[in-house]
This record gives sequence, structure tokens and C-alpha cells, in this order.
Amino acid sequence: MKHCVITGANRGIGLELVRTYLARDEWHVHACCREPDKAEALRDLVPANLGRITLHRLEVTDQKAVEALARDLSDLPFGLLINNAGIKGGEHQALNDMDYDAWAETLTVNTIAPFRVTEALLPSLRRTPGAMVATISSQLGAMSLRGADRYAYRSSKAAVNKVMQGMAEDLRGDGITCVLFHPGWVKTDMGGENAEILAGESATGIAQTLDRLTLTDSGGFFKWNGEKHEW
Ligand SMILES: NC(=O)c1ccc[n+]([C@@H]2O[C@H](COP(=O)([O-])OP(=O)(O)OC[C@H]3O[C@@H](n4cnc5c(N)ncnc54)[C@H](OP(=O)(O)O)[C@@H]3O)[C@@H](O)[C@H]2O)c1
Repeated sequence: MKHCVITGANRGIGLELVRTYLARDEWHVHACCREPDKAEALRDLVPANLGRITLHRLEVTDQKAVEALARDLSDLPFGLLINNAGIKGGEHQALNDMDYDAWAETLTVNTIAPFRVTEALLPSLRRTPGAMVATISSQLGAMSLRGADRYAYRSSKAAVNKVMQGMAEDLRGDGITCVLFHPGWVKTDMGGENAEILAGESATGIAQTLDRLTLTDSGGFFKWNGEKHEW
């Protein structure tokens, strides 16, 4: 049995990533969310998947909680971490209309937390041949895509791209592949009703792309459909 860890697993793309990996018999899914007790959609998956899903309480910005998760998983050789949890940032993130505290929070969740979680889980990842870390970024973080709205969100995703590119270099010697994804414009609470694809399509595409990636792809930025994304 292979083990994977997914953050922000209670709704949206994270929940569909959980469903996607549960549909593959070889995986045990460690689904992490802030309030497992209230994560009804996630909890509904447990009875049909007993022994293949474990719910963990995880606020990704909380170092103690991250360390506790790492301790819980320390005996497991898990092969995949998906840093999915993210926020779109505050309501005010434009020139002359900036909520600076919300911007700092956005960086804390979207940029620093993926590093924090990955770093804490490295001992287990290092023990697993072919281990992978996938971080859900966004096309809005690409330098090639111009746009002046959503400074906080865009900068947090541009920064996590650079962070994970660095981790890819640091961890190449350990055989750990680190990649980034733009998940598409996805119908979730964040993406809204007008988005282009369903969360299930995004999750399936990400999983299928991960299936074919290897260490030589480490440091890459991909779209949910497997195409390379421009930086
Ligand atoms: N939807 C899109 O079109 C789109 C496009 C590009 C990129 N993305 C990225 O895709 C990822 C998933 O987005 P989504 O559309 O599924 O968003 P979503 O429906 O808003 O879900 C966000 C998830 O992240 C969790 N989360 C937020 N802050 C957290 C924290 N501090 N600690 C732990 N969990 C936290 C949320 O948990 P709670 O329920 O506890 O808040 C929720 O499970 C994000 O990284 C997002 O930036 C989405």
C-alpha cells in the first residue's frame, strides 16, 4: 500500500484529489483539514474506504500541528505529498486598496506553509523511493501572465513557484520529485460557479500527470492536463 498526504482535503480540489486516490486501490490517503469533525463530505468517504483513509487535523500554518502530523506519519513510507490548501486572499488587494495584514496571511498560507509542511515530512519522503511533492499553485503566479489585480494572491503563488523550484534542487539528491501545478480554473468556492472545469476533472488530470512524471521533471510547472506551464 502506498501512502499519500493531501492538505485542504475537506472541500474543492483537495476533496476531489482524495476521491481520485481512493479510487486507486494501491493508495492509503491521509486527508488533512482544519476541522475533521465538521468535514462532512470527507467523513462520508470513510465507511466505504475503511483502512484506506485517515483523517488528520491540520492547520498548515501551525508549526506544532505540522510537527504532530509528521510524528503521526513518521513510521509510514509515504510517496506523495500534495500541498493543496490555499486561500484567495483578502477582499482588498489592489493598488490604493490594500489590506496588508491579509496579504501577509496569504503569503503565510500559500507560500510558507507548503515549505513548512514539506520540510516537516521530509524524513518519511526520503525513505520512499520515487517520492513526490506536488504543490497546487496557479497560473496567476506565472510571470508570463500579466495582470494587476489580486496582488496578494498572485505574489503568493509566484513565490511558492520559486520556493518549490528551490526545494526541487535541494531534494534532487534524495530522489524526491517536486513539481507545481496550475489546476485549471476550477468550480470550487475559490474558483466560483463560472469556472471552466469541475474539481474532479482537475484532480484526475493532476493525478494522471503525476503518474508519468519522474525525477527529470522535478522543478517543473504543469497544467492540470499535463501540459507544461510557462513560468
Ligand atoms: N479553484 C480554482 O480555480 C483555482 C485556480 C488556481 C489555483 N487554485 C489553487 O488550488 C488549491 C485548492 O483550491 P480550491 O479551489 O479547492 O479552493 P477552496 O475550495 O477554497 O478550498 C481551499 C482548501 O484549503 C483549505 N485551507 C485554507 N487555508 C488553510 C489553512 N490555513 N490550513 C489548512 N487548510 C487550509 C480550506 O480549508 P477550510 O475549509 O478549513 O477553509 C479548503 O480545504 C488552492 O491552493 C488554490 O489556490 C485554485
